[in-house]
Amino acid sequence: MSELNLILLGPPGSGKGTQGESLQEDLRLPYYATGDILRAAVKEGTELGRKAKEYMDAGDLVPDEVIIAVIIERIEGEEASDGFILDGFPRTVPQAEALDEEMAKLDRPITAAILIDVSDEEVVRRLGGRRTCEAEGHVFHVEFNPPEKEGVCDVDGSKLIVRDDDKPEVIRKRLETYHSKTEPLVDHYERRGILQHVDGTESPAEVGERVRGMLATLRREEEMEI
Ligand code: AP5
Repeated sequence: MSELNLILLGPPGSGKGTQGESLQEDLRLPYYATGDILRAAVKEGTELGRKAKEYMDAGDLVPDEVIIAVIIERIEGEEASDGFILDGFPRTVPQAEALDEEMAKLDRPITAAILIDVSDEEVVRRLGGRRTCEAEGHVFHVEFNPPEKEGVCDVDGSKLIVRDDDKPEVIRKRLETYHSKTEPLVDHYERRGILQHVDGTESPAEVGERVRGMLATLRREEEMEI
C-alpha cells in the first residue's frame, strides 16, 4: 500500500490507545495520541500543559487552535512522511477540516478513519478499571488486561495509577463531550467514503485482528485498482 495515514476514532475507553500501541509496533509508523501528548505537557509544566490542564481535568476538550498546531507540526515532520496513526485527533469538525486542508496541501490521502464502537455502559466499566503507567502511559485493566504484578507496569516496571480524568463524574462529562463534539465526525468521514467500523466489544486481541483484517482488505483493493 502506498502510504497508511490512519485515524482512530471512538468514545473514551473504546480501546484507541490499546489498539494504537499494538498497530504502531506492527506497522512501524509514528503514533500520535493527543491525550498522551497533552498529559506529557502537563507533567513537564510546559505552556501547552498549562493551557490544557483545566480543560482535561473537567472532561472538556482543549481549544481547537491549541491542538491543531500540535498535530500539524508532527504531520509535516520527516518522521511522518511514510504515514502515521492518529489517536484522539481530530475530535471536532473544525479539527477534521484543518486536517483535510493540511492533507490536501501535502497532496496525501487519509487512508481510513477507524471507528472503534462500544456502548456508554462499556466505557464506564472500562475506564473505572483502567490503570495507566506513570512513566510512559502503558495501559492495563484490572479485569480485562491485568498486569503480571499488581500495580506495576509490565513494560517498564513503573507504578500504575488511576488517571485524573477517570473519576466517575469526569467520565460522564467526557462521554457527553464525545457525543456532542466528536460523534459528528462519523458522518464527516462516512461522506468521504473512508469510515471503517470495528466492533470494539470483543477482546483486545480480537479487535486487533479485525483492524488488521480491514487493513489487509484495503491493501488488496488498492492492488486490484493498480
Ligand atoms: P485521551 O487520552 O485521548 O482520552 P480519550 O479519547 O477519552 O481516550 P482514552 O485514552 O480514555 O481511551 P482509549 O480509547 O484510548 O482506551 P484505552 O485503550 O485506554 O484524551 C484525554 C483528554 O485530552 C480529553 O478529554 C481532552 O481534554 C484532551 N484532548 C485530547 N485530544 C484532544 C483533541 N484532539 N482536542 C481537544 N482536546 C483533546 O482502553 C480503556 C481501558 O479499557 C483500558 O483499561 C484497557 O486495558 C481496556 N480495554 C481496551 N480494549 C479493551 C477490550 N477490547 N476489551 C476489554 N477491555 C479493553
